[in-house]
Amino acid sequence: MKDSYIVSRIQDELEELGRDAQLRTLAEIRGVNLCSNDYLALCDDPRLKDAVVQAVTEARRVSSTGSRLLSGQCAEWDDIEREFAAFAGTEAALCFSSGYAANIGVLTSVLKPNDIVFSDSLNHASLIDGIRLSGARRMIYPHADLKALESALAQHAADAGAHVIVSESTFSMDGDAPPIERLVALAKEFDAELVLDEAHATGVCGPEGRGRAAAAGCERETLAVVHTCGKALASMGAFVCCSETVKRYLVNRARTFVFSTAMAPYVAGQIRGALELARAANDRREHLRGIAVELRGRLIGAGFETREGDSPIVPVIVGDNRAALFYAEFLQGRGFAARAIRPPTVQLGTSRIRVSLTARITRGDILRLVDVLTEAREALREAAFAAHG
Ligand SMILES: Cc1ncc(COP(=O)(O)O)c(C=O)c1O
Repeated sequence: MKDSYIVSRIQDELEELGRDAQLRTLAEIRGVNLCSNDYLALCDDPRLKDAVVQAVTEARRVSSTGSRLLSGQCAEWDDIEREFAAFAGTEAALCFSSGYAANIGVLTSVLKPNDIVFSDSLNHASLIDGIRLSGARRMIYPHADLKALESALAQHAADAGAHVIVSESTFSMDGDAPPIERLVALAKEFDAELVLDEAHATGVCGPEGRGRAAAAGCERETLAVVHTCGKALASMGAFVCCSETVKRYLVNRARTFVFSTAMAPYVAGQIRGALELARAANDRREHLRGIAVELRGRLIGAGFETREGDSPIVPVIVGDNRAALFYAEFLQGRGFAARAIRPPTVQLGTSRIRVSLTARITRGDILRLVDVLTEAREALREAAFAAHG
């Protein structure tokens, strides 16, 4: 049978992705895992598994059966939201089924079309989509360029509507971090609000892993701080941490909250178990920071391009898609599970191996990784030389 118009169009697009070395496939991870967000290595921790088993055993039911506004409401969620707000340092918190849903929910409900959003150019897709769907005016400032942000805020200071700065606190692909105090100061100076996505800082940064806003002591000076549970907390879901008023509004207006089935009540028990482990994991945080700083130093020493910082996300920027795929395959052949990150996830010409460190990775792994990357670079040069004569 002849393919339909849509199926042929899809085939063409897939072929084009293949030609541009942009086609993604699903593959299970093998070897030293360099692409996991399980920063505190809690995903297989027996203490966390026990917390899940206990939560399942104690739960009245293993499905929420509906949205929280219908039959999905239960005491487990109220309790964990109170606990999470205390962790984040805010008055209240509201749980969503993912970080993606949380960002879309908060941005599409709070922003109105005549508001202006000042958004970092490297913000995550969930923030970009939330801003787009809100219909608010968008001012994209160059990544982490707070001088440019200041100029944009000044230029639009007299414009109508609310003015809102949106940024990640640790950037997911570059692993760098804007100074939160400065973002808060700019918001204050220009009568703007701040929405901060802590997805890669939750559990990793700040006292007891409470995030960068808490580390800077300005968690209550934001409109909302989004913490996710699927990364360092080895669970799922996300919390929008905010005032009681904003929470009450989200319960009524955030479509990804209102029109979505709540997670099963036992997930609250998993999050509680993970929070307890994460808060006490200072040794793991210290180890992570140590290997992250060492890896950056050794990469720079070996002539690789990376980004500043001490977060566990360490990019090795190699340029084009084919080079990134070559490095990824080479690393996989040497026992490192690495993935090539390409546009549109990152900007054109900045394809990379995004090394995501976890507390499971040793200093020995780091030394070997830099050696293998150096070998890969040599092999790539030889392949290019052979191809061009
Ligand atoms: C910065 C950032 N925000 C939000 C999300 C979405 O979180 P989740 O995976 O829980 O949907 C991610 C996930 O990759 C992220 O990197």
